[in-house]
Amino acid sequence: MFCVGNWKMNPSTARDAFRLAEAIAEKTKVYTRVTTVLCPPFPFLAHLSSLSVTLGAQDCHTEQKGAFTGEVSPAMLKDQGCRYVVLGHSERGETDQMVKEKVRAAVRVGLVPIICVGEEKPGTPDVLQERLRLRLEGIPAQTLSKSIIVYEPVWAISTTKEGRGASEKDVSSALLLFHSFLEEEVGQRLGSAIPILYGGSVNEKNILSFLRAGAQGALVGGASLSPKEFGSIASSMQLYEHI
Ligand code: PGA
Repeated sequence: MFCVGNWKMNPSTARDAFRLAEAIAEKTKVYTRVTTVLCPPFPFLAHLSSLSVTLGAQDCHTEQKGAFTGEVSPAMLKDQGCRYVVLGHSERGETDQMVKEKVRAAVRVGLVPIICVGEEKPGTPDVLQERLRLRLEGIPAQTLSKSIIVYEPVWAISTTKEGRGASEKDVSSALLLFHSFLEEEVGQRLGSAIPILYGGSVNEKNILSFLRAGAQGALVGGASLSPKEFGSIASSMQLYEHI
């Protein structure tokens, strides 16, 4: 199980980031069957590396170095102690081609990409299927098998207009599409080993429904800024793993 906190552009200071990460580490350290990953903004990564938290970034560039003003490379993230990187989040508005290149670049230095895939409107499985194809098709099996995929419907993200979270049924039918796509793309053995998470308005009250739907964890936005709520989400995952 993976409990991944996407802090987005929060909090405002390194001091607050340190306190938040410290409190989350304290709340989640007992949940040993859950891989808890914190994805703070780039400037806070170095400040958090002294804590016992697993770090991820929220993006990376396609190249490892060079004349790319304002960008951060996978190699730099690795050097800062990152093990994961979220790629293709809908808030970034990237092309599928760019996401694929970033996935390759991340795996090349040993980062685990957490690739977001989701449709814009609810009840559009054809669009979701096409999104899966556009975003993941052609990524080499060896690369995809080192990745984590997130079903993150754009309409379910807490900060969007609808922002209401998906239902258990929404998630279980979407995950069927993900599983069959992955098995077709990389084969049954590799495909079934790729973790698929859910993201979009996850909180301590609804997490169990997503786990029941088959998600192997969650990408948590808003609720990851509260140590108590994030800890409670991780606790549900730990319990669910035990059942
Ligand atoms: P949310 O964000 O949990 O606040 O909906 C999830 C995300 O955008 O990764």
